[in-house]
Amino acid sequence: MAAPEASPEAGGRPSVVLGVAGGIAAYKAAELLRRFTETGHDVTVVPTPSALHFVGEATWAGLSGKPVHTQVWESVHEVPHVRIGQSADLVVVAPATADLLARAAHGRADDLLTNVLLTARCPVVFVPAMHTEMWEHAATQANVATLRQRGALVVEPAVGRLTGADSGKGRLPDPDEIFAICQDVLAHGVGEPDLAGRTVVVSAGGTREPLDPVRYLGNRSSGRQGVALARAAVARGAEVTLVAANVTLPDPAGVKVVRVETTEELRDAVVSAAVSADVVVMAAAPADFRPLDATDTKIKKAGDGSVPPLELTQTPDILAELSHTRARPGQVVVGFAAETGDETGSVLDLGRAKLARKGCDLLVVNDVRGGAVFGSGDNQAVILGADGTQIEVPPGPKTALAHAIWDEVAPRLQD
Ligand code: CTP
Repeated sequence: MAAPEASPEAGGRPSVVLGVAGGIAAYKAAELLRRFTETGHDVTVVPTPSALHFVGEATWAGLSGKPVHTQVWESVHEVPHVRIGQSADLVVVAPATADLLARAAHGRADDLLTNVLLTARCPVVFVPAMHTEMWEHAATQANVATLRQRGALVVEPAVGRLTGADSGKGRLPDPDEIFAICQDVLAHGVGEPDLAGRTVVVSAGGTREPLDPVRYLGNRSSGRQGVALARAAVARGAEVTLVAANVTLPDPAGVKVVRVETTEELRDAVVSAAVSADVVVMAAAPADFRPLDATDTKIKKAGDGSVPPLELTQTPDILAELSHTRARPGQVVVGFAAETGDETGSVLDLGRAKLARKGCDLLVVNDVRGGAVFGSGDNQAVILGADGTQIEVPPGPKTALAHAIWDEVAPRLQD
């Protein structure tokens, strides 16, 4: 589905309907609502009657700045059940309960939210939250399959603590993560599942190489680009493992996250996951060197002002290893290169040389002169192909670069 145009009714602002179903996670939707309003979205909240048992109308009205209705019998002269759905750029239902998914899958129209779902012609995102048993039940899974087959994006629930003492799959993902998914859908629509049936490994973040129990050698990589790649791959239907080196961002929904600290740990996790992967993307910034001997005790200042010697040793080059060994025939390997250019060549010259040296299929070259890229939401890059292709990606959010990379990867995948 194509990306939506911003609605004229909302004064050019993207018009979002936030549907809230009756689950305990409704309180997290208030945080999501704030993210939308603070970033200039026009939001209409449509709770189900049961949602108001958890969070009251005053909260939704106060945070959205708009009246809140649950039934089609309010403000009938405005025909809200048709108008709200028709004028939306995005409908997101968070939390979506088992009951709401069932009603939506069966085309019921027994409250305002289900009416809106029937009249909406924009992308629709469901963010389920419920107990594991309810999520795994064949009825719920069939409803989810129906909604996906009709073009809705149904986000996988997170794993963790549920209401009460138990934990498992069924948690509402972090509101920041839901917001990021919604922004992705507003920008790109619910794309074609061109990575369906594919297994993808993405590494993200910066490694830390211990010096002593309290100090480490590290770098400024936040992991945002890798997280954006993982999220975009899930949206395009892939099964995704994210090997995250010291990433503090919320886990992307529907992604298996393996946490690591050092380059050695990153290598082991990526190489092991790569065995069954169709694609490996090395978006992490592994340290190239580590202290030769990390001490068990804290290094103290010497009384005479002398500085302790720091001997470094090289870490394994994971990208080169993956590229040269290829765990599976036809596996596509993607690397990143953060370059500043120097007296030996321009940013692109160095990128081309690195592509050849590493032996990967695609190299995403970032120009990092002046510390650009690290930690920021935006990115600009050139994607170089081993087959001679060169795709310029204009400045934009990391999510746009993520999709541009998958656009290059997808046609390179063999049957
Ligand atoms: N990389 C890796 N293992 C390392 C270092 C880097 O797999 N020990 C990967 C990064 O994840 C990235 C690519 O290699 O995908 C290029 O990283 P970069 O730091 O630009 O290259 P280096 O190999 O470190 O080369 P140089 O420092 O000489 O530019």
